[in-house]
Amino acid sequence: MTKDQSHQRIKKLRDLINHHRYLYHVLDKAEISDEALDSLKKELFDLEQKFPDLITPDSPTQRVGGRPLAEFKKVIHYNRMLSLNDAFSKEDMQDWLERIFKLLTPNEREQVDFYCELKIDGLAIELEYENGVLKTGSTRGDGSIGEDITQNIKTVQSIPLSLGKFKIQDSKFKIPRAFIVRGEVFISKKEFNAINEIQKQKGLPLYANPRNIAAGSVRQLDPAITASRNLDSFAYDIITDVKADTHEKKHTILKDLGFKTNNYNQYCKNLEAVFNFYQHCGKIRENLDYEIDGMVVIINNNAIFEKLGVVGKTPRGAVAFKFAQNQTTTKVLDIKIQVGRTGAITPVAVLQPVLLTGITISRATLHNEDEINRLGIKIGDTVIVGRAGDVIPDVIKVLPELRTGDEKNFTMPRVCPSCKTKLEKSSTEVLLRCPNAKCFARQRRSFYHFVSKKAFDIDGLGPKIIDRLLDEGFISDFADIFELQEGDLAGLERFAEKSISNLINSINQKKVITLAKFIYSLGIRNIGEETAVDLARHFGSLKELQKAKLSDFDAIANIGPIVAESVYEWFNKKENQDLLIKFNKLGIKIKNLEKLAQGKLAGKVFIFTGSLDSIERELAKEKVRDLGGQTTESISAKVDFVVAGKEAGSKLVKAQKLGVKIINEKEFLGMLN
Ligand code: IVH
Repeated sequence: MTKDQSHQRIKKLRDLINHHRYLYHVLDKAEISDEALDSLKKELFDLEQKFPDLITPDSPTQRVGGRPLAEFKKVIHYNRMLSLNDAFSKEDMQDWLERIFKLLTPNEREQVDFYCELKIDGLAIELEYENGVLKTGSTRGDGSIGEDITQNIKTVQSIPLSLGKFKIQDSKFKIPRAFIVRGEVFISKKEFNAINEIQKQKGLPLYANPRNIAAGSVRQLDPAITASRNLDSFAYDIITDVKADTHEKKHTILKDLGFKTNNYNQYCKNLEAVFNFYQHCGKIRENLDYEIDGMVVIINNNAIFEKLGVVGKTPRGAVAFKFAQNQTTTKVLDIKIQVGRTGAITPVAVLQPVLLTGITISRATLHNEDEINRLGIKIGDTVIVGRAGDVIPDVIKVLPELRTGDEKNFTMPRVCPSCKTKLEKSSTEVLLRCPNAKCFARQRRSFYHFVSKKAFDIDGLGPKIIDRLLDEGFISDFADIFELQEGDLAGLERFAEKSISNLINSINQKKVITLAKFIYSLGIRNIGEETAVDLARHFGSLKELQKAKLSDFDAIANIGPIVAESVYEWFNKKENQDLLIKFNKLGIKIKNLEKLAQGKLAGKVFIFTGSLDSIERELAKEKVRDLGGQTTESISAKVDFVVAGKEAGSKLVKAQKLGVKIINEKEFLGMLN
């Protein structure tokens, strides 16, 4: 980006950040996640670092918090309540250290060590004590002027109302007449859930996160409401000069004076130790009963911390080392169309690479045409991308405010980008599909699926080699793979002799396969791993499955009419029947399963709800299946028995409505024996 372009981008980022900050801090209304806002702030910060002369005093990087509400008395802070810059990776931390090293003498550099604190996701407060008695408690407000919330603060049990009642280890320590402490008030995860439960019962909107409740509770005009919220606190800094030479020492003093400090906080000799502690915190995070969103890393030596000073509204000597983000912002470089093995057309956003949950991503799914329309996405847009759990990242929101006018519209194609066949949309699906079974792009994908881990699991036969074999015309159906000879591959460019013989070996090793895996590998529409297992268990052999009439599928608990039809259709197509004959001729052995019909629970369908005392649910299901029965997750009239454990859920209610027989754990165990 040129300086001019950066300038334009900086201006737009500032406006957008200001807009969302106002919504969040003044109106208590969040439209985008904290993580997305942090990501925008980080981009602005980085751009301003690159062009420091573009920093203006009103940039969001130069301010903290929001304006105080008119209803509260104002409190002028003794000195500004600062904010912290964010770091998201080890590199960011190394950059931070490098930046500050430039400002220190070699001797000072040697003395640099760190104090690391859990970064509590709460609300910053300032406490002023006079002669050891709490005089004022205030919010941060805009950093210079906060709101007087003394009455509310007094309801927080972990905040001492008077000091010095505790044993002070350092006998020389005397509490100064005016004593100012800063810390965080927060609400536990448990309390958060309880309050939201009440909100739900009352039909009121839910709070997005514990911090919102903490903020809302502390700023109640009626302290009785605050008291009912069970707020908690951690103290983390002393503003008054107490002649402590390290930050760690301040924490000891705080603790001795009766403040609640965080026991996890830790001294770290160097960045290496910081990284280890960061990793450790990432692990314990889940088990803490309050939310943390990272660590605060502070130069431990107070003289060095002070020397480093403040830039804008953040101290140079401290940084917020945030945990991997579930959401971040980046740019859409292109939108591509992927053709899946079943013909499903998926638009995919090609992204400027960005860190998300600790790994760099460059693609995010846009799902389907409806989603593209909902997002209103254009090529060149800045977007919020996120990932929940292990699923593929997706685009959550477009930020049209950051458009330059150079963005390009995107429309979904009407024909398959690979075979040019007109795309189809059924009445029941939002997906567009390429209906051409011979479509090259579809074929490619179905081959990748055929050799994948959960299917034939052929080592060394990855997408790249499949592509080459297809391009050369060496394979055109799945069975062709088993006909490949070393000599066929020898002519392929950049294919070493060793890897050819390895590949042929691994193909030959995979000529025996279970029925379930075989069914799955065929890539029949709507047949995932589990359904393939259900089919294999029900029919026992390929022969039986091939013979099945459409009505034969009715008896299988987890299989509905759509799945039944797609399996039935597949096995009744001439070309597929030929393929099965070819497999047979090539010596592919399919291991038959003992048919279910022989066990004691044959033909019986079970569903489990609630927790069982003496047997784990998965094991219970396995026992049912071992005895020829079936298990399912969805309640329907096909179910014969509902096994109801403790705290049985909604399935029980539905079962009662449907008149399905309900048995308890004891009765169930009786049936097994
Ligand atoms: S030290 C110069 N320690 O994180 C600010 N802050 O931007 C020094 N926070 O809103 C802050 N836990 O309220 C520090 N253990 C901790 C913290 C912590 C949460 C908050 C702080 C501020 C933000 C920093």
